[in-house]
Amino acid sequence: MDLEKRISEIRRQFEADGGIPPEKLRAKYLGRDGAVRELFGLLGKVPPDEKASAGKRLNELKSELERLIDGLPSAVPVAPGPVVDLSLPGRAPEPGRRHPVYRTWDEIVRLFQRLGFEVVYGPEIETEYHNFEALNIPLEHPSRDAFDTFYVRKPYLLRSHTSPVQIRTMKERTPPIRVIAPGKVFRPDKPDAGHSPMFHQVEGLMIGEDVTFAKLKGVLELFAMSMWGADTKIRFRPSFFPFTEPSAEVDVSCFICGAKGCPACKGSGWMEILGSGMVHPKVLENCGIDSERFTGFAFGMGVERIAMLKYGIPDIRLFYENHLAFLRQF
Ligand code: DAH
Repeated sequence: MDLEKRISEIRRQFEADGGIPPEKLRAKYLGRDGAVRELFGLLGKVPPDEKASAGKRLNELKSELERLIDGLPSAVPVAPGPVVDLSLPGRAPEPGRRHPVYRTWDEIVRLFQRLGFEVVYGPEIETEYHNFEALNIPLEHPSRDAFDTFYVRKPYLLRSHTSPVQIRTMKERTPPIRVIAPGKVFRPDKPDAGHSPMFHQVEGLMIGEDVTFAKLKGVLELFAMSMWGADTKIRFRPSFFPFTEPSAEVDVSCFICGAKGCPACKGSGWMEILGSGMVHPKVLENCGIDSERFTGFAFGMGVERIAMLKYGIPDIRLFYENHLAFLRQF
């Protein structure tokens, strides 16, 4: 074997391998199966008197290649300076938005809070007693019918309105009482443009020694004016609810046409927004409140309905479909 020839071959080969990453070069030349190791393995065949100088030559070759490989730049460049570039423009987070139903809920709640009403909540699973009986809704009344109410298991049901919170509040507190109760309500209605099996209501209740129908009118007029503008008029239409006497439905003047009559108000100039009335003496007595001494008013409104009227939304189902194009408008 011509040792010197093999050494210069390896040198030439090493130079030709210029573009190979250092870790690969190390394996190819100095590794366990590398070219230099292979030569060391052949030392045994060298005549004894040449062994010492041959070993020295191989060691020189090995350390030379080690030095050269160590001096090569590593494949993964180390970033100079700090890793975070503080001069880059920031990425703005896209904030979520409050759902239009809850925006409207908040707006109604804030408004009545300013008038001194306190927010209370009741359970979504109610008893027949709170949802019907205590509210003077008799057994034979159509809303007692199982078709109009989701029953969990008698006497438990999904509340069909927020009025049972009136009962819970009057039983727990003593007058004067001034509360609003927002929440979810449930009715087995087939979904269409105006109906949904779940929607939201805000209930209002005020009980005291001098609570009159005139005060109800004043409170609801303030509500309508702050919701739709100072020019808004309200009107009371005689109506019937088992838990109020007298009862009235309340309309607001159409804010789209200014009460002249348009498709939105079906030509009437008015749009219905809520039910209300003076709390029935029987309901007060059911809750242990002396109906000779105290009177009260109550009202209940649908949050979706108010939102639809406020933003001109034509179909209640839009609230629950979660199309971003719809939600981003609010
Ligand atoms: N609870 C009634 C409903 O769901 C709305 C209502 C009407 C509530 C008159 C009241 C009220 O408090 O006085 O349709």
